[in-house]
Amino acid sequence: MEYKMKVDEPSLSMDNYELILQPCLELVCGMLNINLDTHTDCPIDLADFGACEGHTFLPFLKLVIEHIRRSSKSREIVVTLNDQHTNDFNALSRNIKAFQGEMNDPLLRICIIPGNLYRQCLPNSSIDLGICSFVTHWLSGPINLEKHLLYIPGETEKEAEVKRTSAQDWMDFLIARSMEMREGSVFLVNAPFGGSEAWSIISDEFYQLHARNMISKEDMRNTNIPLNTFRTEAEFRAPFEDSTQELGLQLLHISRRPVKLYENRNIVSGIKPWMYYSLVTGLGKTRKAQEVQEICDIYFRNLEHHFSDWKSIDFIIFDVMFQKL
Ligand SMILES: C[S@@+](CC[C@H](N)C(=O)[O-])C[C@H]1O[C@@H](n2cnc3c(N)ncnc32)[C@H](O)[C@@H]1O
Repeated sequence: MEYKMKVDEPSLSMDNYELILQPCLELVCGMLNINLDTHTDCPIDLADFGACEGHTFLPFLKLVIEHIRRSSKSREIVVTLNDQHTNDFNALSRNIKAFQGEMNDPLLRICIIPGNLYRQCLPNSSIDLGICSFVTHWLSGPINLEKHLLYIPGETEKEAEVKRTSAQDWMDFLIARSMEMREGSVFLVNAPFGGSEAWSIISDEFYQLHARNMISKEDMRNTNIPLNTFRTEAEFRAPFEDSTQELGLQLLHISRRPVKLYENRNIVSGIKPWMYYSLVTGLGKTRKAQEVQEICDIYFRNLEHHFSDWKSIDFIIFDVMFQKL
C-alpha cells in the first residue's frame, strides 16, 4: 500500500493538540455532561474523523476519558478513529497501543474505521461525541487551478468551482455525520482559515519550476493541493440556516480564535508532509518516481529559502459545534 506521507518528519506534533483541541475541552466536556446521564447502561461512543496518526486527538481523548471517569467508573468507552484509506494506519495503531498502555482502562475499546469522511463511515446512530480537527479544509477531490497549487480567494482561476465543491463537501460531511450521530449527541469541528501569504509563496515557487523548464504545463495542470482554508463563517452556518430540519442538526456554537502554526519549528518541515502526497500524485502522472523525487527535492529546497525568516504561519481557527436533534 502507498502511504500518503513518506517523509522523515512526523506529520503533526503534539504542539497542535495544545493549539487546536485543548482550548475546546471545556466546551466539549460541558456538552458531554448532558449525555453522560442518559443511557447509562450503554457504552459511550466517541469518534475522531481524519485522525491521521492520532497525535492531536489522543492527548485530548485522555482528558475527555478522565472527565467521563470522574462521574462514571463502570461505563464502557468505545472510541472509533477514522482516516482515509491512504493513511499510515500502522503508525496510528502503534500510537493507540501506547495510549491504551498509558490509560490502563479495562473498559476502554479503540477501533479504526478507514473511509472517506464525506460519506457515512460509522453505523447509524453510533456517536455520542464526535471530533474532526483540521480536516474539513481538505476538499473531496482535486480542482485544476491552472497556475496555482492551492486556492487563494481573488487570485485563483476556478474560484466558483472551488466554492461550489467546498459548499457541497461541507453539506455532505454534515449529512454523513447526521446519520451517524445519536439523538442529543454533539460534534466539534475545528477548521483553519487563512494562509494566503504562505500559499502564494508555495504556488509561485511551483510556477517557477515551470518558468525554468523543469516541469511542463501538463505537470502544472495535473498538480494541485485540494485545500480550501477560506471557508467563511457564513459558509459554515449556511446548511444549518437553510436545512436544519432536513439535516436534523442544530448549530450550537461557532467562534474564531487566532493561532500561530509551526511556531519555533522549521516551516517547510511542517508543511512538507501534507503537501508531499499531492505533488507526488500530480507529477507522477507523467514522470518516473525518481524524477518526481528530484523535482520535489529542488522545490522544497527553494521553499526553505523563502520561509527561512518566517517564525510561524498565522491562521484563524473556527470552532464549530453542532447537535443532533
Ligand atoms: C492536517 S491532518 C489533521 C489530523 C488530525 N485530525 C489533527 O488535528 O492533527 C488532516 C487529516 O485528514 C485526513 N483526511 C483528508 N481528507 C479526508 C477524507 N476525505 N476522509 C478521511 N480523512 C481525510 C488526512 O488523511 C489527514 O490525516
